[in-house]
Amino acid sequence: MTKKKSLKARSRRRTGSRELQKRLQVAEDTLRAIQAGEVDALVVTKARGQHVITLAGAELPYKVMFDQMYEGAVTLTPDGIIAYCNRRFAEIVRMPLTRVVGSPLHRFVSPPDRPALEALCYEAAAHRASSELSVRAGDGASVSVSVSCAPLQLKGSADPIGVIAMVTDITERKQAAELLRQSEERFRLMVKNVRDYGIFMLDPAGHVVSWNAGAERIKGYRAAEILGQHFSRFYPPEDIERGKPKHELLVAAAEGRLEDEGWRVRKDGTRFWANVVITALRDQMGNLRGFAKVTRDITERKRAEELRARLTRQLMVAQDTERRWIARELHDETGQSLTGLLVGLRTIERSETIAEAAELAQQLREVAAQSLADVRRLARGLHPSILDDLGLSAAVARYVEEFTGRHGIVVDLRVEPESDRLPLIVQTTVYRVLQEALTNVARHASARTASVRLAREKTMVELRVQDDGTGIKRQGRVGRARSNHRRGLGLEGMRERVELLGGSIRVESELGLGTTITARIPVQSTAVPPAQRTPAQTGRDR
Ligand SMILES: Nc1ncnc2c1ncn2[C@@H]1O[C@H](COP(=O)(O)OP(=O)(O)O)[C@@H](O)[C@H]1O
Ligand SMILES: [Mg+2]
Repeated sequence: MTKKKSLKARSRRRTGSRELQKRLQVAEDTLRAIQAGEVDALVVTKARGQHVITLAGAELPYKVMFDQMYEGAVTLTPDGIIAYCNRRFAEIVRMPLTRVVGSPLHRFVSPPDRPALEALCYEAAAHRASSELSVRAGDGASVSVSVSCAPLQLKGSADPIGVIAMVTDITERKQAAELLRQSEERFRLMVKNVRDYGIFMLDPAGHVVSWNAGAERIKGYRAAEILGQHFSRFYPPEDIERGKPKHELLVAAAEGRLEDEGWRVRKDGTRFWANVVITALRDQMGNLRGFAKVTRDITERKRAEELRARLTRQLMVAQDTERRWIARELHDETGQSLTGLLVGLRTIERSETIAEAAELAQQLREVAAQSLADVRRLARGLHPSILDDLGLSAAVARYVEEFTGRHGIVVDLRVEPESDRLPLIVQTTVYRVLQEALTNVARHASARTASVRLAREKTMVELRVQDDGTGIKRQGRVGRARSNHRRGLGLEGMRERVELLGGSIRVESELGLGTTITARIPVQSTAVPPAQRTPAQTGRDR
């Protein structure tokens, strides 16, 4: 019994599988025919009857167009199988056309994007829908595509019989967009992080809409504090009163660009000297979209320019003072002596005896000798030629020796031998300061001893003249009008000369304890020794 039953079942299974094989064969033949383009029409059996999809007749030109157009075109059955596709789609997915048709579309979509595809197809059964997806091509590459779908509705039928999809390869477009995005990002980062320039944007009304690190450094506001604020707060009150901020925007809008230099105000209220460029930003239609503002803090540069102007003025005043001094010397001393000589010579002419003439001549020789000494002193004052002959160290030693001889003040002298390798202008200035300082010691200090120290550091030369005298009395330091009868530089003249070379002078003095004058002058460490100077260099040094 059991055996009989099982035989029957086996024969039923055999018939079933034969039936299945037959149907499979029919399906495969149909598929091959569709794939080979041998089919003109498809008959789709649905619950409510049969639908015929025709490819022949009037629709044939569309088929040609379909095959040749640049976009991929796909016809999907309601369950997402590719019923038909054009060559371009096969190219996009990089598979032979025959293997694409009949496959489910989702096979060609990257797994993470498959839910999106499903949602798209679901939507497209009712109305148009589109999305961007990533296709997994046959060679494993991933291709970005834009897919737009619409229901495939036949005339006279209520339900769509599938979905049509247009597929565009947007890899290049996406790459270009990505490159643009990266380049914009880099540019944004650069602007954001630049610290030497304040770079920010204003809306057309002048409100701050962007802020970078440089703007924060220069103006002191953090981005969160300043965004949305009006840019006029960077201007000093007097400029705001004059309407300068508004005016600058008007000019920039009219002329495209405005450059200005002036005082601006930091968050903490301090001012800095700014160079500002405002550029109008317009869109393609020419509408004003705002302004770009680039601000530099050039306070240091302005200070340096002012200092230079002040030093140049000082130099001119110093030169003039010196010329006047020389003129006075020539007139008062040399002129007097020569007048005396003239008068004397005339008297000699009229003298009646040889003895009388000889006596007068003797007197006149003294006058002439004095006059010669004056002229020599004057020449030495104009340029201490001893520097050219002996160099600074020896000149200083010689001067100190003469000083002690003349005034009986013992001077402790220490000189570094390197000092001769200084530029001539520095040597002259050091020598002048020494002259003036020691002359003051003799004239004002009532000192018993003094010390002179000349030292050379790597980038500095330092002269220190110290005495153990009375110290400078108060009126000697401040508010004292320049003496008309002064010979030499005076303390002020010393300071001017030293500052002209970028150096500084310190005067320390205590009543009853003495005075110390310290002059420090910068020098380049690679100063050319005098022996190697070219005439041009010597000329520049003087
Ligand atoms: N070494 C010093 N000891 C005491 N007083 C000094 C010394 N050097 C300068 N002074 C005081 O400072 C004043 C200014 O000096 P200076 O500018 O050289 O002008 P001057 O020597 O022509 O008076 C002097 O008149 C003097 O009163
Ligand atoms: Mg003096």
